[in-house]
Amino acid sequence: MNTTDLNATASRGPAAGAFAADVLAGLALPQKRISSAWLYDQRGSELFEEITRLPEYYPTRTEIGILEAHARDMARPVGAAAVVVEIGSGSSRKTPLLLRALAEPHAYVPLDLAEEFLLDSARALALEFSGLHIVPLVADFTLPFDLPDDLQAPERPRLGFFPGSTIGNLSPFGVVAFLRLMAAALGDGARMLIGTDCTRDPAVLLPAYDDAQGVTAAFNLNLLVRINRELGADFDVDGFAHQARYRADLGRIEMHLVSRRTQRVQLCGRRFDFTPGETIHTENSHKYCRGDFQALAHAAGWLAEDCWSDGQERFCVHRLRLAPGARRGTTH
Ligand code: AVJ
Repeated sequence: MNTTDLNATASRGPAAGAFAADVLAGLALPQKRISSAWLYDQRGSELFEEITRLPEYYPTRTEIGILEAHARDMARPVGAAAVVVEIGSGSSRKTPLLLRALAEPHAYVPLDLAEEFLLDSARALALEFSGLHIVPLVADFTLPFDLPDDLQAPERPRLGFFPGSTIGNLSPFGVVAFLRLMAAALGDGARMLIGTDCTRDPAVLLPAYDDAQGVTAAFNLNLLVRINRELGADFDVDGFAHQARYRADLGRIEMHLVSRRTQRVQLCGRRFDFTPGETIHTENSHKYCRGDFQALAHAAGWLAEDCWSDGQERFCVHRLRLAPGARRGTTH
């Protein structure tokens, strides 16, 4: 493996000031909201990793079980020497399962906003997969991005990998926009493996997003810690409580931070007032069932080629394909 790759992090990250602009705009809305993308600073990424090991948090375990059982089938049509692009990769216990199932993968391109976390996990993978080119890309997966030039050779199979049901952070409209971006970045003939959480039972969902140990609460509240540190705000973190809500009408879990009392927060010279019980909406986690997700994939120009699930259809891993030689409008 070429270790210099790990230092040469190609950067298409968020513009400087994007965090401040996003938070200021979100706190000015009648329903205050902040994008869940900002939950993942170093500490947030660590806390999320802890969440994935909680007894209540079923998605990670369930998806790993599906990958262990079916990675060979998932990888079979992809062919040798593929370029694997993993989206929003944190650390991943899942990546090695896929890489081992592929025939001599050529390159692994993990794409994430949390740079340090990205580099740490890339280094760990480099130990197991010598000979694999590892090319971390700091980028926001909701914005257009390009693969590095030397990975764009059209004859190389390209495989996008988006596990974890992170796609659930996107609205149905956002899913279609994202899949169109992926089509533009990966090109004709590419495939994607995408994990989606299909769970609809609130008795399973609510504990998964409000665990007994309070790790999810710490993960949510860490957003305020980050805003204080990086943007110089004066949030009293103890003045807010974590809340998970299940919206059956929208098929999603929402995370909120609930103000415990009347309070005022200063941020970048602006003041934001909170009434007791008022919330900041910090995350949507949509639960796309098999058919709903396939319909969104079709709307974005992808074919739903195959799908694997656990016995209870709690979680699905979809394999999508972009028809070779199809002409589509690109978004950039
Ligand atoms: C990383 C977006 C898949 O929605 O389940 C976990 C984030 N939030 N607990 C999810 C999360 C609260 C997670 N994703």
